[in-house]
Amino acid sequence: MVQTVHQADSLRGTVSLPPDKSISHRSALLSALGRGTSRIFNYPNSADPQSTLDCLRSLGVAAERNSEGVMEVTGRGLRGLSPPTEPVNCGNSGTTMRLLSGILAGQRFGSVLTGDDSLRQRPMERIADPLSVMGARVSLRDGHAPIRIRSARDGLDPIEYRLPVASAQVKSCVLLAGLYAEGDTVVLEPTPSRDHTERMLDLDVEEVGGVRRLVVEDGHTIPATTWTVPGDFSGAAFFLVAGCLVPDSELHLEDVGLNPSRTALLEVLDGMGADITVENERVQGREPVGDITVRSASLSGVDVGGRLIPNLIDEIPVLAVAAACAKGTTEIRDAQELRVKETDRLHAMSENLNALGADVQEREDGLLIEGNGPNLLGTTVRSFDDHRIAMAMGVAGLVAHGSTTIKDPECAKVSFPGFWDELARVASF
Ligand code: S3P
Repeated sequence: MVQTVHQADSLRGTVSLPPDKSISHRSALLSALGRGTSRIFNYPNSADPQSTLDCLRSLGVAAERNSEGVMEVTGRGLRGLSPPTEPVNCGNSGTTMRLLSGILAGQRFGSVLTGDDSLRQRPMERIADPLSVMGARVSLRDGHAPIRIRSARDGLDPIEYRLPVASAQVKSCVLLAGLYAEGDTVVLEPTPSRDHTERMLDLDVEEVGGVRRLVVEDGHTIPATTWTVPGDFSGAAFFLVAGCLVPDSELHLEDVGLNPSRTALLEVLDGMGADITVENERVQGREPVGDITVRSASLSGVDVGGRLIPNLIDEIPVLAVAAACAKGTTEIRDAQELRVKETDRLHAMSENLNALGADVQEREDGLLIEGNGPNLLGTTVRSFDDHRIAMAMGVAGLVAHGSTTIKDPECAKVSFPGFWDELARVASF
């Protein structure tokens, strides 16, 4: 399949966003480990969070929407999961695989986790290493899934683990395994990544000399509860950039998750000269949310690197589109993690933006982009079967002269089913 996107005259209206993917995965996993039925309001239909539910079902957890559309998950307690009868299939979802591995490492039964072609190429030593230090018996194939986990007959050992990579998935894997340790598990995080897991587990967090210290106490249990998933800031990002770039635009985004460990894109776009306002800020459950309005603005280049990167890691593909249409140079550094996402996102964005006539140099850990104002020229580009690449190129298509054809665009459903319809709905041509 292909998707053709035409240059737009303006974007106007209120965008309907999918629920946050990261929070959805965690709400389902924690509900499964609670005792009793938890209710999740606004659970998404996107493919990745559905993969998490499918995996949980294969472990004996009931998860169904009730007649009001609320997801009801029957928790089995920490030790009540059932052995799966076949490999647990995480689809395209790295978060499902890495977080569930932490949980399965603590079970008294063995399991195998697998996924699609992309997921089976992503690095898994980063979780196998700390889990092995905790005494879990984990083996990989050449550093990748399938992940084979043998039964943890005697529970896990508590560890103090300093994260070697800024990754919320690795952090969360160790914290979840910590629920099965005999003693307190400590994770030290020198470069902060998204903090949903520690918020949702209600962990003790302190900061010592710029390093976050998170503790899962011995005997920590999870109550059955109610979760409400906010709108996905990472989904909003595509419309924030599109609203800046397309002339004569004004878009509203409501009930968007505004957790500061996710929203560095707002800071960066502000530095580029964007016209974005955040209103009605409030706290929903344990997460900040608010409403955002974006209006067209002319953007300038910016330098992005260091501690900001983990807080906009998923937004870098669409930030690269903003940079290609800005005036002046943008340098994105310290973003080598993008090479091990659903695809190598540095390579994918460089290839695609250059195909549209932009001036992008791929660096080992980032991109150097000479902004050329709104001078992209529509052509055919590839999604690389990566949802965020497909959607970023959809945004580029709205500003490129003529029309842009995106190959294999259906992968957008991984995090944002209905993205293409939503883009067309708010656009005038
Ligand atoms: C996620 C963490 C990030 C992010 C991913 C979702 C999460 O990955 O890129 O889309 O929900 O924990 P890493 O932990 O690999 O940095």
